[in-house]
Amino acid sequence: MTSAARLLFVIKVVFFTLNPVFKSIFPSEYYSSDPPRGADGSAAKIFVAFHIMDIDEISESKMGFRLHLFVIDMWKDDRLNLDAVLDNSSVRIVPEEIYSRIWKPDIIFVNSKSGYLFRQSVTNKFVKILDDGHLYRTTRYLFQVDCLMKLQKYPMDKQNCFLKVGLLSTPSTDATLHWMDDPISPHRNVSLRLVETNAPLQFDIAQPKPHKTTEQWIFTECDYLYANFTFTRRITASLLNTYIPTGIVVIMSWGSFWLDVNATPARTSIGVTSVLTTVTQIVQSRNSTPSVDYLKAVDVWLFICLLMVFLANLEYPIAYNVEKFYTLNRYSQPDKYKDPKGRRMTVAQTLFRYTNIIDKVSRIMFPSAFFVFIIIYWATYLSMGE
Ligand SMILES: *[C@@H]1O[C@H](CO)[C@@H](O)[C@H](O)[C@H]1NC(C)=O
Ligand SMILES: *[C@@H]1O[C@H](CO)[C@@H](O)[C@H](O)[C@H]1NC(C)=O
Ligand SMILES: *[C@@H]1O[C@H](CO)[C@@H](O)[C@H](O)[C@H]1NC(C)=O
Repeated sequence: MTSAARLLFVIKVVFFTLNPVFKSIFPSEYYSSDPPRGADGSAAKIFVAFHIMDIDEISESKMGFRLHLFVIDMWKDDRLNLDAVLDNSSVRIVPEEIYSRIWKPDIIFVNSKSGYLFRQSVTNKFVKILDDGHLYRTTRYLFQVDCLMKLQKYPMDKQNCFLKVGLLSTPSTDATLHWMDDPISPHRNVSLRLVETNAPLQFDIAQPKPHKTTEQWIFTECDYLYANFTFTRRITASLLNTYIPTGIVVIMSWGSFWLDVNATPARTSIGVTSVLTTVTQIVQSRNSTPSVDYLKAVDVWLFICLLMVFLANLEYPIAYNVEKFYTLNRYSQPDKYKDPKGRRMTVAQTLFRYTNIIDKVSRIMFPSAFFVFIIIYWATYLSMGE
């Protein structure tokens, strides 16, 4: 509000206070800081519902998500004689002059880092009087909500986040919080509604679950409402961007086992290229996820892939030296290297029969080891609990 608008508002309130209608609304002893009481002196009951328009920016690097929602809260204040002013109004909206003087639940959003109340083109808030005298307030917010994410299973993870609502200064002896679908609610309806079927880029969102607790503060006990969200990450993007490319590089690195052991340039370049490519992919994956001091599922995969290409690279020097040893042997005993009929073998036959023993073993060992790893990896992470 600008200072001129504020002055105008004060003047309006002053004039309104002088109006006899105003006097009939408020009893003589009315303090806007005192919560209303029920007929039997019980604590005020506040009913809350969220209409969630949109969930986006679910971010593991910021450890939070963004929520666009309508917050609805409903309470009853028997001290007010609102009929005096509203009987003739068809819309039954409480005027701002009255709203500013009545008691309102001091609702806070405990785990939101920042928030924003929409003000286009008017402040996105109204208070309405229902037929049974309940005051019904609707407000439109955008929140940045905190969420501690656990990434051990990333990218096969499921994140449990919540938005926690409480009353700032009112203990549960003076006012209690309830979800709108509480059995005692006079206008029972869904507490948490996902208004639009919104699908954020990477996640599936389950229907949010309402939850209520009473927590102890230093002097008092307060009621809190939780809206629990479950975000399940869709794995397709990670499969396409990380798992399949690194797997292909590992498979490519085996190509060298089928090349002649004397093809040094070909075999070394395959080895070096696969190690470099894998390292690049690891760096890329690190950039897109926060660095945590535990192993994420994707780190395990990348580490094993790096180990596989490293070992495939290491295999060549060993095969090369073993080959040298055998070649010397063959030259020193030429008679042993003849076919069963005693002829000297052709080049092709020699190649076929004397494929390096290390290469022969690797052709079987490397794919089997990787295959066993893939099975164990996916079986472990897909069956692992949260
Ligand atoms: C409401 O309307 C009735 C008759 O139409 C009138 O007598 C009364 O003064 C009105 N009340 C207010 C608060 O304007
Ligand atoms: C909630 O309110 C809507 C609109 O007033 C109504 O159509 C719906 O039946 C209500 N749901 C429940 C569970 O009462
Ligand atoms: C909601 O989340 C809170 C905090 O994580 C948890 O204590 C509670 O059990 C959850 N309730 C439901 C119904 O999921």
